[in-house]
Formats: sequence, structure tokens, C-alpha cells
Amino acid sequence: MQLSADRVSVVIDGKAVLNSASVKAEPGRMLVLAGKSGSGKTTLLNVLGLLGRVGTGSVLVGGQDATTWNDARRRRFWRDHVAFVFQDYGLIEEASVDYNVTVGRRGLFGLRQPELDRVEQVLDHVLLSGRGKEQTARLSGGEKQRVGLARAMFRGADVVLADEPTASLDRKNRELVINFLIEEARRGATVVVATHDEDLMAAGDDLVRLGGA
Ligand SMILES: Nc1ncnc2c1ncn2[C@@H]1O[C@H](COP(=O)(O)OP(=O)(O)OP(=O)(O)O)[C@@H](O)[C@H]1O
Ligand SMILES: [Mg+2]
Repeated sequence: MQLSADRVSVVIDGKAVLNSASVKAEPGRMLVLAGKSGSGKTTLLNVLGLLGRVGTGSVLVGGQDATTWNDARRRRFWRDHVAFVFQDYGLIEEASVDYNVTVGRRGLFGLRQPELDRVEQVLDHVLLSGRGKEQTARLSGGEKQRVGLARAMFRGADVVLADEPTASLDRKNRELVINFLIEEARRGATVVVATHDEDLMAAGDDLVRLGGA
């Protein structure tokens, strides 16, 4: 699923945060958004994920103008197509790790055996093997971030959006995250990542620097 921003401007509190930004993210490729702090990377990622509204310009999702989609239509896009890997974003703290990994993907009768196996597999992949029954609130910051990653893996989403996914991680976990994003693009997902991490920039297929510098 292709995502693109076409001459998008965003003004927050009277300040131009994005000024006619255009980017295109393609299936099977990783697009890296770079640029100094405050240059609008997170803002642009939110725009592409339909989490933030644009002032002018348009956002296209699979060739369709999504700028005017209502809440229900945007929710459907998130549910059916997107995995967000954001820090401090979207984990239900009181719920178990298993629940967070599978949220939005549980049928009326809960999870079936193949799905339970898949949960174990993704938790193993992010080095959280056997931790599925623990309450998410009890995990460390880095572990919670890996739960977000496991959820993204479990969803097998068409679109993976990641904001500074390697910030404040040790080397092993940085490699884990970078490899995950590469693999997602390789299997055909559209991957967009905002980062300051040079290794992640090098791993991307396309690089856009915001704010000119
Ligand atoms: N909700 C908000 N209210 C006020 N200003 C905001 C808001 N969100 C973003 N901004 C401003 O928009 C600008 C761009 O912010 P953004 O978070 O997109 O930058 P960034 O490139 O992701 O920075 P960083 O590398 O530090 O994460 C900043 O100057 C910020 O102060
Ligand atoms: Mg940011």
C-alpha cells in the first residue's frame, strides 16, 4: 500500500512545522525521515499515519485521497493495515503482554491455537519468550517497546510506521529493531521510520531530510 504526502503544510500554534513537504513511501521499501530535532519528522509520520490533520496539501493512501476521511474510515485503515511502533504509544498498561500483542486481532472466541503459537513466536523473536502472561505495566521501558514491536510482527501489517524505534536501546536490541524493519520491507510492507540513528538511515532504501539541513 503506497502512502504519500503531497505538498503538505502543518501549522501548530502559528508556527509552520511542515512547509509543503512531499514524500512517497512504497511497498517493499523502507523510507527514512531524518533531520534535526524539531524539523517535523514525528509530525510527518503522524500525517502519513492519519493521526494528525494537515493544514494544506493532501495525503494519499493507496492512491486515494485520505485527507477528508472521517473517523470511522481512518479507524478501519489503522485496524486493517497499520502497525505503529511508537514510544509510549498504544500499549494498555493494565493488560497482559499477550493481550497487547494481539489487540484488535482477537475474534469472538479469543485466540486459536495457531494464533497462540504465533504469539509465542513473535515474543521469542523480541526476546520476551515466556513473558506473555505478565502485566505490561511491570515491564521496563525497553521491554514495553519490544511488546510494541511484537505486536507489529503479529499483525503482519501492510504499513509499518516507526518513530525513533532504536532510541535508548542497547546494541543487541537496536540490531533487532533494524533487522525487523528491513524484514518487514522485504516481505512487502511499506515502512516509514523517523530517526536520528545513522545505522537505521543506512538500512533504509530511501532517505528524506526534513528542515533542509
Ligand atoms: N502538539 C504540539 N504542540 C505545539 N507544538 C508542537 C506540537 N507538536 C509538534 N510541535 C512543534 O513542531 C515542531 C516539529 O515537531 P516534531 O515532533 O515533528 O519534530 P521531530 O523532527 O520529530 O523532532 P525530534 O527529533 O526531537 O523528535 C517542533 O518545533 C515542535 O515544537
Ligand atoms: Mg520526533
